[in-house]
Amino acid sequence: MSLETPAHRMTAEWLDTWMHVRGLTAAELDGWPLVHVGSRTRETELVCVDPGVDAFRRLMASIAGDPRGMLTVLADDIGPYRISRLPPGVRVDRDDETLMTTMLRDEPVPPLEDDFTFRWDVDGNVVTYTVECGDAVAAEGTVGVLGPVATFDAVETTPRFQRRGLGRHVMAILTVQAMGRGADRGVLAASAPGRALYRSLGWDPALEMLSLMGAD
Ligand SMILES: CC(C)(COP(=O)(O)OP(=O)(O)OC[C@H]1O[C@@H](n2cnc3c(N)ncnc32)[C@H](O)[C@@H]1OP(=O)(O)O)[C@@H](O)C(=O)NCCC(=O)NCCS
Repeated sequence: MSLETPAHRMTAEWLDTWMHVRGLTAAELDGWPLVHVGSRTRETELVCVDPGVDAFRRLMASIAGDPRGMLTVLADDIGPYRISRLPPGVRVDRDDETLMTTMLRDEPVPPLEDDFTFRWDVDGNVVTYTVECGDAVAAEGTVGVLGPVATFDAVETTPRFQRRGLGRHVMAILTVQAMGRGADRGVLAASAPGRALYRSLGWDPALEMLSLMGAD
């Protein structure tokens, strides 16, 4: 992908770091990265940055009819893409994600309550932190660092443990790990509940995201 605008650069930073965290590779299609995700939800994800509605509609042909193919567009305003007519074999998968960014700050980590324990899984510049309550996972998250950029992935609190500060705790502790590995800024793709958490931590929304999937 060309790096002509801040939106392109930020998306490239997020994508490169996210692929690093998950150990993924990408090919190229029409100048855009085609990530081999190979996950439960999708085989591939083609990612483009505000290409214009006509070009976006052409890209839809690459996922039409393929229920394992995803096409994601990032833009200041996804409105024009959201209202664009979809060809047969293409559906909207998500329109509630946001690319968010922040300068990382060294802040105190809020302590865990006594009934929780934690464990680490460290693989070089990728760190997963898990909070447990007995045998149950209460919350977890992963951070990966590539150069000065950290991305946070799969941050999740089990529903019965939500709104007890665990998300804030996991983010704070992973931020310390990221800064210790040389990162000074963060970028991540946030779900709607994730966005509320990250906003409360001072992160800023940068780009809206819309993901389409092929359909039978
Ligand atoms: C997003 C998520 C991780 C938050 O975890 P959590 O442990 O409940 O978060 P915390 O208790 O630390 O919340 C910290 C602050 O974030 C904000 N916040 C968190 N969840 C929120 C929600 N659902 N609605 C509004 N604000 C929310 C609040 O400001 C909250 O402070 P408060 O409780 O004092 O008001 C959790 O809702 C979740 O796992 N959701 C499903 C998976 C998901 O979307 N993960 C994010 C991927 S990007």
